[in-house]
Amino acid sequence: MDKISIFVETYGCQMNEYDSDRIINSLMADPVNNPEDADIIIVNTCAIREKADHKAVSAVGKYKKLKIKNPDLIIGMAGCVAQLYGKKLIKQIPHLDFVVGPREIPKLRDLIFDIKESPNHRKINTSMDVEEVFKVNPYHKPGKVNGFVSIQQGCNKKCAYCIVPTVRGNEINRPLKEILEESRLLINQGAKELTYIGQTVNSWKYEGQRFYNLLDHLEELEGLERIRFTTSFPRDITSKMIDSMEKNSKVCRQLHLPVQSGSNRILKQMKRTYSIEWYRECILKLKESMPDLSLSTDIIVGFSDESTKDFEETMRLIEDVKFDTIYSFKYSVRPGTPGEKISNHVNDDIALDRLHLLQTRQREISLENNIKQLKKSYKVLVENQSKNNPNELFGRTSQNKAVYIKNISEKYIGKIVEVTKTEAFQNSFIGELT
Ligand code: 5AD
Repeated sequence: MDKISIFVETYGCQMNEYDSDRIINSLMADPVNNPEDADIIIVNTCAIREKADHKAVSAVGKYKKLKIKNPDLIIGMAGCVAQLYGKKLIKQIPHLDFVVGPREIPKLRDLIFDIKESPNHRKINTSMDVEEVFKVNPYHKPGKVNGFVSIQQGCNKKCAYCIVPTVRGNEINRPLKEILEESRLLINQGAKELTYIGQTVNSWKYEGQRFYNLLDHLEELEGLERIRFTTSFPRDITSKMIDSMEKNSKVCRQLHLPVQSGSNRILKQMKRTYSIEWYRECILKLKESMPDLSLSTDIIVGFSDESTKDFEETMRLIEDVKFDTIYSFKYSVRPGTPGEKISNHVNDDIALDRLHLLQTRQREISLENNIKQLKKSYKVLVENQSKNNPNELFGRTSQNKAVYIKNISEKYIGKIVEVTKTEAFQNSFIGELT
């Protein structure tokens, strides 16, 4: 095949971002910024909530015009919506040439080859074949300061609301050797900070090695300056993991730890396998060991028969913990999940009111937390030029706080510098070199 140009539109989580970069490499394609310049357009989709999967179908819809203009254009859908609805999508969207599930990305090149050979054969590839699931490394833009490395595919938890195990299959952990190899590859291309990703990243284990051992191995990688990982599952946080994070000179002081609800009654129905007391205790231990640790979480409101009292317990939790960031959602019923069988979910209006209350209070907390950091100096890894102001550079602190740095030369891109925060917003700061 000649070198092809590709445009990938990505929805959803970091795993999808990563998969989009794998799609580019599995086709050995050139990524382009404009869909009109592409030989292949792929929409990489998210099925986590109903709204997200509607979005995916309309995203593919908008490329119909281009296909009419250029019948050789190949249009595909990848990701979790592709996996979930497979054949149905091919029937529903006449200009869609193929659907491919997350586990089948390594075979994408063969699939495109088949389509080129027989253009009228539309393809569906949603097998959960586990062979070679990690085979293709992601595309990495040379010189990009940060990157992702997947260490796990799928999920073994059985949270009642969640579609991930259905669309991404059971947990498969990536061999240590491959994780180190891919890390070195990205470091050689200029990455200074790597985020290790998996649905429950801290449950990673391979041939007797646990997640805390992996952190030790990653610390030894020469040229790597910062390590992040996401998403952690609360029940898989162990004392050994906390010790290992604390000791590790490269692990960032940031943890995303989805709690989902502050009420034991709801946590139980969600099948989260921990109590709220357990979660709070876990946070205490983490903060005791790393006082500057920044915490974020996910919360779902309106699941099952969540009462006002249950919701108040969630509000109490956010008041006590003072997370830096919360990603919060109204529960959305997903096909094939245990939540689908529950008939008395909270009605939409009440759930929306709760979501609004939670988000309003959290915005205040996020800003209050940020204001406390003003006039202090933090180590910032400079990533790139600010998109809004060409005179500023953009970077992040170890706590993953976004900082726009004034009066700084571009030569600092890729370097860690000391920055004093001078202005605080809800999600970012302005700062100057200390
Ligand atoms: N409805 C609403 N939110 C959901 N999430 C997962 N499944 C659902 C659902 N059915 C949220 C959870 C999870 C985040 C990625 O998305 O909070 O942690």
